Amino acid sequence: SHSRYHLHSSFVIGEIDPRIYGSFVEHMGRCVYTGIYEPGHPQADEKGFRQDVAELVKELGVTTVRYPGGNFVSGYNWEDGVGPVEDRPVRLDLAWGTREPNTFGTNEFMDWCGQTGIEPMFAVNLGTRGIDAAREFVEYCNHPGGTKFSNLRHAHGYPEPHNIKFWCLGNEMDGPWQIGGKTAREYGRLALQAAKVMRWANDELSITRDYLANMGQGEGLRDGGPFKDKFLTLAACGSSNREMDTYARWEYQVLDECFEAVDIISLHTYFRNPEDSYDGFLKNIDNLDAYISEVIAIADAVAATRRSDKRIMLSLDEWNVWYKSGHPVDTLDPGFPEHPPLIEEVFDAKDALVVGGALIVLLNHADRVKAACTAQLVNVIAPIMTKQGGAAWKQTIFHPFALASKYGRGQALRLAHAGGDDIDIAGTRDGNRITIFALNRSLDNSRDLTVDLSGFGKMVLDVAQGVGNTDPDAVNTETDDNLAPFEIDKAAVADGQLHATIPPATWCVLSCL
Ligand code: AHR
Repeated sequence: SHSRYHLHSSFVIGEIDPRIYGSFVEHMGRCVYTGIYEPGHPQADEKGFRQDVAELVKELGVTTVRYPGGNFVSGYNWEDGVGPVEDRPVRLDLAWGTREPNTFGTNEFMDWCGQTGIEPMFAVNLGTRGIDAAREFVEYCNHPGGTKFSNLRHAHGYPEPHNIKFWCLGNEMDGPWQIGGKTAREYGRLALQAAKVMRWANDELSITRDYLANMGQGEGLRDGGPFKDKFLTLAACGSSNREMDTYARWEYQVLDECFEAVDIISLHTYFRNPEDSYDGFLKNIDNLDAYISEVIAIADAVAATRRSDKRIMLSLDEWNVWYKSGHPVDTLDPGFPEHPPLIEEVFDAKDALVVGGALIVLLNHADRVKAACTAQLVNVIAPIMTKQGGAAWKQTIFHPFALASKYGRGQALRLAHAGGDDIDIAGTRDGNRITIFALNRSLDNSRDLTVDLSGFGKMVLDVAQGVGNTDPDAVNTETDDNLAPFEIDKAAVADGQLHATIPPATWCVLSCL
C-alpha cells in the first residue's frame, strides 16, 4: 500500500531538545563497573574509563546521561562517592542486593562526562534522605568555593564548579519497591521543599522568591524564560509506569504540591511482550504516545487550577525494551555480590523497531518532551555490551538511536496525512536538512511512501538507510552486527516528491538537503 504525506516548514511542532537523546548510567549490575569503568582493562585510560566503550557512546550520539540511579539513588549517600578512594566505604546496596565499592562516584562521573562530551543529569536521594543532603550536594557540585561543601570539592581536586543544571528529584517514588517510597502528597511536598533549597543553594534565591510567590505565572523557567541559563532544571517523579494503580492521580497530586518549583515531570516505561506477539509488541509504540498525551493533559489540568500559563515539560527519563531477562532478583546470587551481571537483555530486530518507533513518538511530541533517557547505557538493558576484560559491541537497538540522534535535530515538523494508510512517521528540519523517520510494521509487505516536500525548494536525497531484518528475532553478537543499517535502494527525490519503498519490518531514515 502507498502512504502519502505533505510536509511544510510552517508545520512546526517545536524545537527538538537535544536532551531527548539521553541515556542512563546506574550503579547497577555491570553498567558502571566493567561497563564504562574498568581499571586495568587493555582499553582503559589512566582514569579507568574504557575507551572502546567511550567511542561507542560517542557513535551512539548520547547527549545527556542520568546518574547514579534509578532505584540505587534512593539509598545512596553522595558523600560515600567523593574524596580519596581509599577512604570511601563499601556499602550494601539494598535496591539490587549487591555490594557497592564506591570507587566510582560524582567526580569520576563528571570526568567521564567531560571526556565523552556528555551533559550530566543528576538524581538526588529522596528515599532515605531529604532536603538537607540535597542542598549540600548542590553546594558541593555547583558553588564556586569558600563554603564547607564547595571547599570539600576543592580539597578533592575539583576547584571549578561542576555547574550541573539538570536534577531529578528522587526516583520512582510511587513504587512499593522503592527505598523510602511515598504517597503522592508526601512526595510532592518533599519535592517542593527539595526544589526550593536546591535552587537557593544554586544562588537562585532572589529570582525564585518572587517567582514562587507569584504561583508560577508568566514565562516558565525553561524555554525562553528570563533565567533559563541560570536556573536549575528540576524534574519531579511521575509514575513508574502507566500500569501503576496510582497512575494519573499520582501525577496530579505531585504537581499540585510542587508545580511552582519544578520544570518537568518524569515518565518511565519498559516495553514488554506479555502475549509473545509481534503485532502486540509493536503496540507499545502507540501506548507510549497515549501515555505522553495523558501526562501532558494532567500537567495542564494542574496549571488550569492555578490559572497559570506555565507549562510543565516531560522527561521520559527511563525507557527501553525489557522483558526477556526478567527481574534482577531472578538471577541474583545471595551474599551481596559486587557488580554481578543483572538484566543483560539481548535485543532482537523487533526490539530495534519498537525503539525506532518510540523515537518517532518522541519527535512528534517535541514541544513537550524535553528530555528522555534510554535505560541503561551499558550492559544493563543497554545498547552497548561489554565483556569484562574483553570486547565491547553494539546491540540491535543501537542503530535506530544513533541514526535518530544524528539526523533528528533542529525542529520537529508535523506531517499532514494526504492519503493511503497512516504509518509511524516523523519529520525534522535542521537548517537545510529535512529528515523523515518512518516505520513499516508489516512483516510481509513493503510499503511505498511519498512525502511532498515541494515547499522546501529543490531537494536532493542525502541518506536513505533502513534498520531491520527479515527475521524479527535476529540478534547481534560480539562479532555479528546483524542489524547494521542497510541502504534503501528504492528511494529518490523527484519534482519535490520524496519516494521510498520501505522493506517489511524496517525502520528508516530518509534525509534530504
Ligand atoms: O533501569 C532499571 C530500574 O528500573 C531502575 O533502577 C528503576 O528506576 C526502574 O524500576
